[in-house]
Amino acid sequence: MGSKTKAARAKIAWHAFPRRTVGTRSLFGLALGISKGIQMTDEKNTVILSGIRPTGRLHYGNYFGAVKDFLRLQDEGHDCYYFVADYHALTTIKEHTDYYRQTLDMLRTYVACGLDPKRSTIYRQSDIQSTTELALLLGMMTNIGHLERGTTYKDAVSKLPGDSTSRPDGNPISYGLLGYPILMATDILIVKSDIVPVGHDQRQHVEMAIDIAKKFNHRFGETLKIPRSVPKTAVRLPGLDGGAKMGKSDNNDLGLLDDPKLVLKKIKGVPTTTDPLPLKTESNEPDDVIPEMPATVGALYFFLHLLAPKDVYLDFVGKYRRGEKFYGNLKTTLAEHVSRFNAPIIEAFHAPGNTDETVEEFLRENAQKVTPVTIETVEACREAMGIGRSLYR
Ligand code: TYM
Repeated sequence: MGSKTKAARAKIAWHAFPRRTVGTRSLFGLALGISKGIQMTDEKNTVILSGIRPTGRLHYGNYFGAVKDFLRLQDEGHDCYYFVADYHALTTIKEHTDYYRQTLDMLRTYVACGLDPKRSTIYRQSDIQSTTELALLLGMMTNIGHLERGTTYKDAVSKLPGDSTSRPDGNPISYGLLGYPILMATDILIVKSDIVPVGHDQRQHVEMAIDIAKKFNHRFGETLKIPRSVPKTAVRLPGLDGGAKMGKSDNNDLGLLDDPKLVLKKIKGVPTTTDPLPLKTESNEPDDVIPEMPATVGALYFFLHLLAPKDVYLDFVGKYRRGEKFYGNLKTTLAEHVSRFNAPIIEAFHAPGNTDETVEEFLRENAQKVTPVTIETVEACREAMGIGRSLYR
């Protein structure tokens, strides 16, 4: 396994910003990448894995941070595993939530974006029974200090009011939240992943998975395949509020299924009360221009650069330099481009061949397809740790 992995790795290189390069300097302190990816390769046996929580519909952060790479890797013909992380969604559960419904919608959106259940193995995390077993085994050998350094956990703890162990949104600081990186490591390691395409915010979790796998192999012998690190240049999309990150719960997102009315409402709602500030930079590249703008205006330009032809973006940079009155026009132009981007996805979401029934059909097939490799991994770990193989499988 080790040498094959090495050979596969040697052939594949992460390449930051291969086409529309916008550099690696920072916007709002973040990497302003809109196109990262993996170089074309003729290696077909690379295992790709990634997942998304079913906490709402897909937004632009999910698409440009993750799904765009899922599509490219699928098209390159790799062995792709894409799933909906419904167990992970439970780290923010305080009452019954119809995650099943949200999972089906998420999967229909995957399909609408171009993920093809015939070419990629698309499944639901909770359908893979060995996941809970491997998470338990990995949990036994993971130091709690390691988990306490996880950003998701640290963030949640830092926002606790006073002595409370309940978060302001009513969710507990749960055992599951602390163990979030173990569950994520399990998803990654259980199918023997090589590459995990994720946005910038999930980089640390992938690093933790790599650490856990290395520690396991060191203590119990070579058992787990070690995945590749996520490049530092992984994408992070800002929110429409000018905040550092577009997020589902931050009310600052652009959704892939948002209709033109909603798109216009969201974009018109972006505060642009500040007049253009004189730009010091002579460059028109977004990485140079946007950091000089007020954050919300910068977010509008970020998305304009992402979606509109370059000359449209440049035209609006010119207007900004000249301090013309143009924010209304900027917003309607951006809204048109967003709606144009969304239109085919919305249509494909509602297509007759993309229903709850078709999704359930491939979920059943794919759970069966993924299960053997996951059993193989968990059995190998049981043996390596010394409890021996299961007697009932
Ligand atoms: P989740 O559901 O928060 O996000 C799904 C994917 O979208 C990316 N993303 C972004 N990328 C760029 N800019 C943004 N503003 C932005 N917002 C979200 C995320 O980086 C991610 O790639 N723990 C994971 C789900 C998961 C997983 C896994 C991922 C569970 N197990 C195993 C990979 C491998 C999560 O909550 O992602």
